Amino acid sequence: MLRGKIIVVGVTGGIAAYKSAELVSRLRKAGAEVHVIMTPNACNFVGPLTMQSLSAHPVHVEMFGESKLGGIDHIELAQRAHLLVMAPASANMIAKAACGLADNLLATVLLARKGPVLLAPAMNTAMYLNPLTQANLAKLKQLGYQVLEPGVGFQACGDQGPGRMAEPPEIFAACERILSGMRRLEGKTVLVTAGGTREPIDPVRYIGNHSSGKMGYAVAGAAIEAGARVILVSGPVSLEPPPGAEVVPVGSASEMYQAVMEHFPACDVVIKAAAVADYRPEQSSEHKIKKSGGDLVLKLVQNPDILKELGKIKGDKLLVGFAAETRDLLDNAAEKLQRKNLDMLIANDVTKPGAGFGSDTNLVAILYPDGGKEILPLLGKSEVAREIISRIVALLDKKTKE
Ligand code: PMT
Repeated sequence: MLRGKIIVVGVTGGIAAYKSAELVSRLRKAGAEVHVIMTPNACNFVGPLTMQSLSAHPVHVEMFGESKLGGIDHIELAQRAHLLVMAPASANMIAKAACGLADNLLATVLLARKGPVLLAPAMNTAMYLNPLTQANLAKLKQLGYQVLEPGVGFQACGDQGPGRMAEPPEIFAACERILSGMRRLEGKTVLVTAGGTREPIDPVRYIGNHSSGKMGYAVAGAAIEAGARVILVSGPVSLEPPPGAEVVPVGSASEMYQAVMEHFPACDVVIKAAAVADYRPEQSSEHKIKKSGGDLVLKLVQNPDILKELGKIKGDKLLVGFAAETRDLLDNAAEKLQRKNLDMLIANDVTKPGAGFGSDTNLVAILYPDGGKEILPLLGKSEVAREIISRIVALLDKKTKE
């Protein structure tokens, strides 16, 4: 899979730099053409000669040295590489990348890069947990950078906690996954729904739910990464849409129904991550309802089940649903999968820590109509989204062969 692929490994200053030597060696053994860029600080931890010997290419450190590639090195490297991996990614370099600084060769290459970038952060626990670092990572993820979360454990400085760089085999596997999934949805249109709907009671009040849109936006981002045209039908959320998404903002379930039905004919795949209200007030008051001194009784009527309606007319399109459950996860999800005529269903128990509404992580099971199921570990929502997209790519491949 990696044969002939050009991979730039950026090494920053941190004790985990020694592990990058193993990564470079693994990538090269797998047939990749590996170029190493080291920051001047990284050279304090590992000698460039080690990296040069393992990669079989000159190592790039200086911004203004003699060209090693016969052009302007940083632009050349940024454009030629199929993948850029920064491992370890120090807090300092993550901050530079998030701010668009370009004061060393690696930072400059990152700024000039348009293709996929994988970051493997490694740093002291307190630095990693610092809200500034977390905000920088969140910003980079939002911009499409892939982040391999650091491991938890004993650190060289004596502290314990998250901050240990992912192990080289894990980084290697992530490189394979990224390069195998690249542009696999090219030419496909994917409709993603995200966020919660709001069912108006009057002009100032509504019935809503806790959906932040993070899961759906991550799915949209992963589909864009894979080369798809993405129509993102979104309930009201406070997130920046992934660059490239065609956003269709909606408020209520009825509006979402209209938008989805309008765009459905142009789609190859629909992924419904939105939390759609099943009921709405029968009447929405034109003016703010005043306190009358007594109770207020609202009559709720059923909303259309958008996914179920799509299931009736799906033809050869691929239909992927989500299920938010609070008990009997797999049984309830399996029933929904059949009832809505889906090709895949992502089930999450929203009562589990780190899963469901609002969190940056999710814990999901993936169910198929033939009874097959996979349970994924707790992962960042971006990672979950990429796993979902890779399964969708496999299903589309299978359909093409049939
Ligand atoms: O947005 P986040 O904060 O990141 O949270 C993510 C999430 C918890 C919202 C997401 O992971 C999730 O579970 N989304 C589905 C929520 C939901 O509405 O589940 P459900 O089991 O009620 O519905 C099943 C499926 O039918 C869903 O795909 C839903 O979009 C769809 N549906 C439901 C009702 C309805 N009237 N129309 C629908 O299309």
